[in-house]
Formats: sequence, C-alpha cells, structure tokens
Amino acid sequence: ATLLILWAILGYLLGSVPFGVLLSRAFGLGDLRKVGSGNIGATNVLRTGNKRAAALTLLLDGGKGAVAVLLARWLAGPDAAQIAAVASFLGHCFPVWLGFRGGKGVATFIGIMLAVAWPVGLLTCVTWLAVAAAFRFSSLAALVAAGLAPTWALLVGHADIFVMALLLAVLVYIRHAANIARLRAGTETRIGQKS
Ligand code: G3P
Repeated sequence: ATLLILWAILGYLLGSVPFGVLLSRAFGLGDLRKVGSGNIGATNVLRTGNKRAAALTLLLDGGKGAVAVLLARWLAGPDAAQIAAVASFLGHCFPVWLGFRGGKGVATFIGIMLAVAWPVGLLTCVTWLAVAAAFRFSSLAALVAAGLAPTWALLVGHADIFVMALLLAVLVYIRHAANIARLRAGTETRIGQKS
C-alpha cells in the first residue's frame, strides 16, 4: 500500500507540470490564463496563434500521463499504473503550483489511454479527430472522445480499465462545465479561432 501511495504522489507531480503555461511563457506569448478561455491546455495555446507551442503542449501534456503510467507499470505493475494514471490526471487538473486551478485533462487523458491500453487510446484519438474535423470544436471532440472511451475499452477486451476510463471521463465532463454551457448557448469558439 505504501508503494501505491508513492505512485500516486509521483503521478500527481508528473501530471501537475503545466506545460501550456511554461511553453507560452518560454515562447513569449504571455500568461496563458489571460488568453481565450483562460485554460492551460493546447487548445488555448493555439488561440495565441502559435501552432508550434500548441503542438508541443499537446505532446508534453499527453506525454506526462503516458510516462507516469509506463514508469509505474514497468517498476511496480498494473495496479500502480492505474493509480499513477488517475493521479497524473488529477495533477493536471488540480496542480498545486497554480493554486489547484489547472486544465481540463484531455491531452493527459489521451496519453494515459495510449499507455494503459493503446487500442483504446488510438480509438479515443480517432474519435477526437473525427468530431473535431466535423464540428471544429475542441471541447465537443473531447466530450465525445472521453465519453466513448469506456465503451471502446469494453469493445476491445479491456474491461480491466473500464472503471478508470469511466472515472476519468466523468472528470473530463466536470472540467468542461463552462464549455458545455457555451456549446449549448452557441458561443463556444472553434479550433484556431482567436476567442
Ligand atoms: O482541451 C480542453 C478543450 O477541450 C477545451 O479547451 O480552451 O476551449 O476551454 P478550451
């Protein structure tokens, strides 16, 4: 049990690195929390107009979730991997460094899924891309992709991660409350649109 707590802490710390904020600052784009939706994710970095910084944010926010899972699984097995997965997601959404006001977890969710069960991760990516291509809303793509992930897990024979996928999907929905309100009101910004 002590070992699992250790993986929870390590996962949280990895997840809590706010790459969007750090990269925006490094690229001279200012404080990301004063841009667009104020969110610290890749979608909002893209609103600054810097595609390279946005792509890097996506990669690193996804990568930190994947690294947490892979490290835990390699050193301590599948239970530790799931603990590290959830902890890294929570780290991204509630980072101590930003007064617990973090992101919405989409890139980290996808990185986690790719690492815990790559077919589920791949299907989640494809779902996100398909919805994004059709509607140009990052938030809508995330809501559909995260919402379907538990179903994909069952369909590809990964019932072992169903509960975790469901838990993370619920958290993604909770983090998108403002986006859901904007989508319903017809005021959500489209991908790449300034704000
Ligand atoms: O990745 C988060 C995305 O789904 C929504 O981001 O900035 O449009 O609220 P944003």
